[in-house]
Amino acid sequence: MAKKKIQSAFFCQSCGAQSPKWLGKCPQCDEWNTFVEEIINKKNVKTVGYGYNNNSPKLVGDIDYSNEKRIITKDKELNRVLGGGIVPGSLILLGGDPGIGKSTLMLQFALSSKNKKILYVSGEESQKQIKMRADRINKDSDHCYILTETSTQNIFQQVEKIEPDILVVDSIQTLHTSHIDSSPGSISQIRECTAELIKYAKETATAIFLIGHINKDGAIAGPKILEHMVDTVLQFEGDRNYVYRILRTIKNRFGSASELGVYEMNSEGLREVSNPSEILISERDEATSGVGIAATIEGARPILIEIQSLVSSAVYGNPQRSATGFDTKRMNMLLAVLEKRCGFRLGSKDVFLNITGGIQIADTAIDLAVVCSILSSDQEMPLDTQICFAGEIGLSGEIRAVNRIESRITEAEKLGYKQIIVSKYNKFNDKDFKIKVTKYAKIEEVFRLLFKTKK
Ligand code: TYD
Ligand code: MG
Repeated sequence: MAKKKIQSAFFCQSCGAQSPKWLGKCPQCDEWNTFVEEIINKKNVKTVGYGYNNNSPKLVGDIDYSNEKRIITKDKELNRVLGGGIVPGSLILLGGDPGIGKSTLMLQFALSSKNKKILYVSGEESQKQIKMRADRINKDSDHCYILTETSTQNIFQQVEKIEPDILVVDSIQTLHTSHIDSSPGSISQIRECTAELIKYAKETATAIFLIGHINKDGAIAGPKILEHMVDTVLQFEGDRNYVYRILRTIKNRFGSASELGVYEMNSEGLREVSNPSEILISERDEATSGVGIAATIEGARPILIEIQSLVSSAVYGNPQRSATGFDTKRMNMLLAVLEKRCGFRLGSKDVFLNITGGIQIADTAIDLAVVCSILSSDQEMPLDTQICFAGEIGLSGEIRAVNRIESRITEAEKLGYKQIIVSKYNKFNDKDFKIKVTKYAKIEEVFRLLFKTKK
């Protein structure tokens, strides 16, 4: 009897490139040692297409989308990152570190949607485990079905019976299709399962959430092509030592890709945080030296953050410089500017900088708050708790203009600050802000204002 021929190919686990033989270095993405053999016995594979009937070109003006209403969820932060609700028929990929709360977020969303039928398919936990979690989240729902299944064919069978409005798949790496022989989680399985789900979503206008694992570099595990295939990519991130979680839009075909949602993880699941500035600024009764408040922009959202510095004489020969949440190289640059342009002797001092709340800030507009907090600690003079800052610092000590200054000022005003210091070069409408907006061109001028008595 003729032996059935097993077809296999080698796939790059980093970019999904295919090769008939093993290669040490991927010719597409230049990664080393990423090729893994996968069996690809395809059985009557259907071609993947969006299956619209009688497709013919139409004038843009004639295309009607008025019945394509977005599904507005109860979760305002989720609506925001999706660009104003879920578009029916779209595929949304949610990535994030293990244990960050992806399953919790999706289950909570599934349980809180009252008038939409939702099917939550899990390949990772049993129905009982999910029920335990649902009890913890404590939202009663009569529209949420739970299915524990990993075969796409079986899932589609159940889906036909239930006909959900929204399908949640936890996670894409656990799914497998019988059209391909390789194991779940392999590149070809992920690609094929996603293609089947896309076809289903587009044909039935069902929105699908896919949970995806991420690899050690923080990219979504599986081929990059997965991110190209889906409509929206969301990333759930945060420091596990803190309770705050940030949901970020990486790609969105139906909205802005710079949106951001903030959650707090507590014993009853995730809580939406509608005003992140309040949780990032610690409350204190009296002013402490070394604390400065910066108006920054995360994604498209203005947030006020607190910067803490500690400057002390170096005990050992080499002064230490360390920054948490801020680029250490940039901090060294700012210290050099202070030394050279303003004559502060910080060369023999240890400087520690910390952005509270465990968040990472790459926005250069917080420079001014950083230098003011460093000098406040060095001079042992607390800054006025009612002042905040928004300005970038150039190498000659000039305060440079920053983007979206008006939203920064408005946020500071909303939180009750009395004064904000910005760059003189920032052009904006001097509307009647209730907050006092002070403009300066050089950092020396700011220091003269803040530390008048000593310097
Ligand atoms: P989970 O959603 O399982 O993470 P993922 O699916 O991303 O791997 O989240 C698990 C973590 O969330 C776990 O460390 C415990 C925590 N958690 C809470 O703090 N409160 C809760 O109510 C729930 C359900 C989970
Ligand atoms: Mg999970």
